[in-house]
Amino acid sequence: MRSLGDLEQGARRRLPRSVFAFVESGADDQQAVGGAREAFARWEFVPRTLVDVSRRDQGVSLFGRSYASAFGVAPMGGAVVCGRQADLALARGAAEANIPFVLSGASTEPLEVIMEAAPNTWFQAYLSHDQERIDALLTRLERARVEVLVITTDVAVMGNRENAQRAGFSLPPVMTPRLAWDGVSHPSWLIHCLMSTLLRDGVPRQVNFEAEPGASILARKVSPGDRRSRLSWDHIRHIRKRWKGPLVLKGVLSPDDAALARENGVDGLVLSNHGGRQLGAAVAPLDMIGEVRAAAPGLTLLVDGGVRRGADVLKARALGAEMTLVGRPFLYGVAVAGQAGVEKAAALLKQEVDRDLALLGCPRLTDMHPGYLRRIRCRG
Ligand code: FNR
Repeated sequence: MRSLGDLEQGARRRLPRSVFAFVESGADDQQAVGGAREAFARWEFVPRTLVDVSRRDQGVSLFGRSYASAFGVAPMGGAVVCGRQADLALARGAAEANIPFVLSGASTEPLEVIMEAAPNTWFQAYLSHDQERIDALLTRLERARVEVLVITTDVAVMGNRENAQRAGFSLPPVMTPRLAWDGVSHPSWLIHCLMSTLLRDGVPRQVNFEAEPGASILARKVSPGDRRSRLSWDHIRHIRKRWKGPLVLKGVLSPDDAALARENGVDGLVLSNHGGRQLGAAVAPLDMIGEVRAAAPGLTLLVDGGVRRGADVLKARALGAEMTLVGRPFLYGVAVAGQAGVEKAAALLKQEVDRDLALLGCPRLTDMHPGYLRRIRCRG
C-alpha cells in the first residue's frame, strides 16, 4: 500500500459492492464529490529552494492540544458495515497516530467506551430541535469528558445517494438474491465483519444519537432525522450558553453563516459539503476558505472533502485552514486492516506531508502561506 488510492482499491476488492457504494457515493450526479477534488488540483506549488530542510516539523496545536500533523479523521456514521468495531479501530488508530478523531453521532459503539479507549476523541452530534433531548445529550457528553463538540448542520434532510441505492445499499437492508450474492461473494467481509459482528457483539445499535441508546440499525427508523430540519441558530445559542468546551459547526460553507457563527460564540467551523453526500452540487469547501476567513476572522477553520494526499493537507493549510479532516480513506483502511489500516493511512499522509515540506523548502508546516501556491488559470 503506497497511497490512500491503494487503500481504496483494497477496500473495493474486500467489501461487497453495496457496502463500498455506501461509502463511496455522493449525492445526485456526484458533482460535489468531483468538485472537491478538482478544487485541490487547481492549485500548484511554487517551491523555495536552498533552504535548510534537514529538520522538519508538521505538528500543529488546535483547541489547546498538540497533534502530530494537520489532518484528522472525519466523523463517519455506519462505519461498522466496513469492519467489526470500526468506531474503536478509528479511535485507537487516530490516537496512536496522535491526530484528531471525530466520533460520529451515528456510530454504534457507546461514546463512553470510545472515550475510555481514546480520551481526546471529539464528538459530532446530529441534533434534533428538541431542547430537552439536546440538554440530555450534552449532560451525557460532559460526563464522558468530551472536550470538543462538533455539530453537523448540513443534514436538514438526507441527501439523495442514488448510486448507493442502485448498488443495493439501504438501512435497514432489504434482502434480495443480488444482495445475498454480494455478501457471499466477499467471504472475508462476510466472516470477519458481518458474522463476527453479529456473533460477538450482536446487531449494532445507534447508541450515540441522543442521551438514551437508540434503535438497532435493522430498525425501520434509525435516526431522528425528521426532527433535524427544524434545527436553527436559536439552538446553537442555547448550546453555546451551556457547553464550556470548544464548539464547532460542521457543514458551513457560506461566509454569512461563518459570520453568524462567530457572532454566536462558536469557536470553529468545518468547511464541508459532507463529502458530496448531501447537497449534490454544493461548492468545493477548499474554494470557500478565503471568503470565510475574511467574514469570520479569529475562528478556527477546518476543511474536508477530497483530501487524498499530503499535498492537499499543505494546500489547505497554505490557504488558511488550520486542519483538514479526511473521511473515506480512513474507512477504507478499516475495511482492509482494521486499526492497522487506520494507522497505515495516517502514516502514508504523514510521509507525504514530510516529503513535500522538504521539497517545498518549508521545514515547518505552520509556516505554510499562500506564497507557496499558484492558482492554475487555464489548462491546455
Ligand atoms: C460521512 N460524513 C459524515 N459527516 C458527519 O458529520 N456525520 C456523519 O455521521 C457522517 N457519516 C459519514 C459516513 C460516510 C460513510 C462518509 C463517507 C461520510 C461526512 C464526513 O464527515 C466528511 O465530511 C467527508 O467524508 C469528507 O470527505 P472525504 O474525505 O470522504 O472526501
